[in-house]
Amino acid sequence: MTNVWDERAEDYRTSAIHSEGEDLDLTVEWCEPGPGVTVLDVATGGGHVARRLREAGATVVTVDPAPGMQPDVIGPAEHLPFADGSFDAVACRVAAHHFADVVAAVKEMARVARHRVVICDNTFVSETSEQADRLRDPSHVRNYGVAEWHSFFELAGLRVVDERHMERPLEIGPWLDRARTPAEDRPRVLELLGDRVRNGWMPLPTLVIKGVHA
Ligand SMILES: C[S@@+](CC[C@H](N)C(=O)[O-])C[C@H]1O[C@@H](n2cnc3c(N)ncnc32)[C@H](O)[C@@H]1O
Repeated sequence: MTNVWDERAEDYRTSAIHSEGEDLDLTVEWCEPGPGVTVLDVATGGGHVARRLREAGATVVTVDPAPGMQPDVIGPAEHLPFADGSFDAVACRVAAHHFADVVAAVKEMARVARHRVVICDNTFVSETSEQADRLRDPSHVRNYGVAEWHSFFELAGLRVVDERHMERPLEIGPWLDRARTPAEDRPRVLELLGDRVRNGWMPLPTLVIKGVHA
């Protein structure tokens, strides 16, 4: 079966909002990369976290269920094919809202991390915005609120040691194009987003959260 992500791989490699940003800088910094540090990049997509971690000297393994993303290892976040404590750090950026079982995924990340887990994702705005996300991309499962993220970390045995909230500027046209949203659905997506969209851009609330083994 073709994974929708295989068809989108090139768009995510070249996407502006994925290849740079304060959220990417922080995700990488909080993994504390450097020579001798091992990091697993979960749901690597276009590989931007992995690229930046490698530039900082870390040894990185990438994992993603979509072969088209060309990860080092193919697999879902809910079942990571690695032994307990295989990596110093585990990173996962702007992907958890696609996971079928986010709690299982965070538990898996905690299991394979010897020390720290850094997750970055869009946060919940409203049920109407969730409808917009699902219509734009049926592989969208759910954005979570900050309190939910804290509970996921707690359930995984991780103590939150740092978190930062920010708004990433998202350009609507390329966002719809990346998900191949049918032309007939686009007006309804915009209607559901309402006044969140201004002049073709939307601020995307985002959380970067870091946990260590409690
Ligand atoms: C938006 S892209 C990730 C972006 C990338 N991490 C970055 O920083 O640019 C979302 C990725 O999540 C992956 N994905 C979807 N479901 C997944 C799952 N259950 N487990 C792990 N990865 C998943 C997709 O294959 C896709 O590569």
